[in-house]
Amino acid sequence: MKFNLNILGILTLPMLASIAAIAQTSPVKTPGNISTVKIEGQKVSFATQNAYGEVTVYAPNVIRVRLDKQPLGRDFSYAVIAKPLQVKADIDQTNNEITISTDSLQAKITKAPFSVAFYTRDGKVINQDEAGLTTSWIGEEVATYKKMQEGERFIGLGEKTGNLDRKGSGYTNWNTDAFGYRTDQDPIYSSIPFYVGIHNNLNYGIFLDNTYQSDFNFGASNNRFSSFSAQGGEMNYYFIYNKNLADIITSYTGLTGRMAMPPLWSLGYQQNRYSYYPDTEVLRVAQTLREKKIPADGITLDIHYMDNYKLFTWDKNRFPDPLKMSNKLNDMGFKTTVIVDPGIKVEQGYGAYERGLKDNIFIKYSDGQNYTGQVWPGWCHFPDFTSEKGRKWWGNEVKFFAKTGVSGLWNDMNEIATWGQKMPNNVLFDYDGGLTTHKEARNVFALNMARASYESARTEMKKRPFILTRAGYAGLQRYTAIWTGDNRAEDDHMLLGVRLLNSLGVSGVPFTGMDIGGFTGNSTVALFTRWMQIGAFTPYFRNHTGVNTKSSEPWAYGEEALEISRNYVNLRYRLLPYLYSSFYEATLNGQPVMRTLAIDYTHDSKVYDTQFHNQYFFGRAFLVAPSESNKGFAKVYFPKGKFYDLYTDAVEMGNQEKIIPLTTKQLPVYVKESSIIPMQSLIQNTSEKPTDTLVVHVYKGDVNNSFVYYEDDGESYNYENGVFHKRTISYDAVAKTILFGKVEGSFKSKFNNLKLVFHGFNNISSFNKSGKSIIVKDDFVSFISPISKFDPQGTANPIEGVNVKSVVVKNDKDSFTISY
Ligand code: GLC
Repeated sequence: MKFNLNILGILTLPMLASIAAIAQTSPVKTPGNISTVKIEGQKVSFATQNAYGEVTVYAPNVIRVRLDKQPLGRDFSYAVIAKPLQVKADIDQTNNEITISTDSLQAKITKAPFSVAFYTRDGKVINQDEAGLTTSWIGEEVATYKKMQEGERFIGLGEKTGNLDRKGSGYTNWNTDAFGYRTDQDPIYSSIPFYVGIHNNLNYGIFLDNTYQSDFNFGASNNRFSSFSAQGGEMNYYFIYNKNLADIITSYTGLTGRMAMPPLWSLGYQQNRYSYYPDTEVLRVAQTLREKKIPADGITLDIHYMDNYKLFTWDKNRFPDPLKMSNKLNDMGFKTTVIVDPGIKVEQGYGAYERGLKDNIFIKYSDGQNYTGQVWPGWCHFPDFTSEKGRKWWGNEVKFFAKTGVSGLWNDMNEIATWGQKMPNNVLFDYDGGLTTHKEARNVFALNMARASYESARTEMKKRPFILTRAGYAGLQRYTAIWTGDNRAEDDHMLLGVRLLNSLGVSGVPFTGMDIGGFTGNSTVALFTRWMQIGAFTPYFRNHTGVNTKSSEPWAYGEEALEISRNYVNLRYRLLPYLYSSFYEATLNGQPVMRTLAIDYTHDSKVYDTQFHNQYFFGRAFLVAPSESNKGFAKVYFPKGKFYDLYTDAVEMGNQEKIIPLTTKQLPVYVKESSIIPMQSLIQNTSEKPTDTLVVHVYKGDVNNSFVYYEDDGESYNYENGVFHKRTISYDAVAKTILFGKVEGSFKSKFNNLKLVFHGFNNISSFNKSGKSIIVKDDFVSFISPISKFDPQGTANPIEGVNVKSVVVKNDKDSFTISY
């Protein structure tokens, strides 16, 4: 339709009426103009021509926006556990707009037509609705469109394939069983509808808390907007603004929660395959790890431990005495983790099935008949984890494992995976009192399964349990670690895995892992060793492979691969004090253990260059540059600052790209200047005590730095009552001091002595402790052992290491200063 302007060139009232008529008949419904406004404390409620809304100040830097076509419904979330903070917020309105001002930002709601924009306190646009599109509905689908800012990039969104910078791509959140997924496949297992936008030296986070299938568009097939939409329910998002990207992660995990301290053993090396059985085979693998001196803490048992894949059973022939086996493993320093799937086999007389029927906890079709879907055991029913009753039932069943000495629960197939992968939408879920369909509940099924496992295991297993899940939703970090499912034994997959874990880290999940060595297919020797090296620098370090692949234990690829693998597993164990402290930080402020460079070098465009986007920090100190296994050279980007080669202490200046030669023996790893890295002597598992000296490596640098050292018993919840040992170690580059702060907490450290190892301080010969001079030794440090000379005619590999200065002091609880 075309509107002819009248002779004065202006729209007349009848013309405007026709435009309004189009808006009315358009299949895309917008809210229209705001008609009524109510301001109460930190909340603005309003009605528009076609919608209802609420904008709430959740914290000075967090604003929540809700909109619906009907009056807002039940306010319920599986993800958000925080309530709004009482804050100072000024809310004013004029005829045209409502302005919300906090100490951190300003939000402006335009009244005619409705749209929202967020500004810094000094008036810079952080994020704004795309005028004209704002929020709208197509049937039940609701979408919000944000104006694409100049140079805008997007990162996060949890476990999503593709590049670090998601600009130009679109993604769907719909938990999916993605066996052997492609490196660009979407969706895969879990859904975390949270991303970070970056532009013009600003960054913000948006969390869409809607569990229906959601779609994110970061400028895919359009040059106008980024958008997020859901197939049903309300538009319900949290806008987060912080100056530093790292703080956005802290704010986001302030909303959705943080992990508890993991059991120390779960940070050790874990051995798995689909499947080790019978018990003698499990013990053989454990014994071989010990004989070959590959430190390890965990064995995981895949589905063949069960009697015909029936949950809460053991196959009596393969595992006649599971408690005896777990005890034996325990004596050898191994903890047992078992797989649990949600499908309960439909079979009369089978205990879990009968109990589930009796307690009426299975999900049902809308006509009340239990839903039946096929998975490993055949036709199954599925507990409703979105009901309190279902979670309790599961919790009670899980006690079975506590009785057989199991320490970890590996929650699998919980997307829900069923053969055919087409679960009917008319299956109903309790959704904790908000009865709903598969459409709204699917994405939170796994989160609630992990929650039920965690809550029960926490009380039943007495010690901290280890919980692992395949699928999940925002907030999963409160209950569980996650791994990236059925990857392939291919170089691209190894690197994709790194990006998936980095992205999960941005999205609030610190405890992450991938199948080291690849799940489908067979690794080459070079790929396996490179993957083991990278695995040592990932939060959850588990080797796993599929049912019909070749053996994939560290000794299955020949002597050289074994020695290389051992080097890196050894290094991992020596680094446990550093790693454990990094996890402690995750419990405090949600910072991931694996950090894409985008977190700390957000506005450095090189970080997003696909040549470098796999690089990451492991904790705060190690810059890891993963690269394919079959290349002779790699290009590494050193961001601002100064970096030390881990193996040689050679210094690389920042803001530099560099081509480096690769060998299969070493993974390129660098230490950031001014880093403080506590390490221990080599142990074969975490129940073994290291020597009583904590070795603290300090790398000379031009910037100040601090590290919170944290220790506790590694297994109980006593730390929640102050039974920990914690101190801040600060490096002051100007004052030339290393300050050991006063110890907090009542736990007695394992370490009576501290050995400080100084890297890059080689011209300095005098150190003192709180004024008194201390003996300085010339020392030599090596992080990996030379690989054997396998060819008798060949030349021996030299020991690689570095000359350093070291001092040993008592690990006093009071504060002291080391000066140089
Ligand atoms: C799924 C899991 C895999 C496991 C297999 C058998 O494919 O992702 O890790 O080994 O099921 O339980």
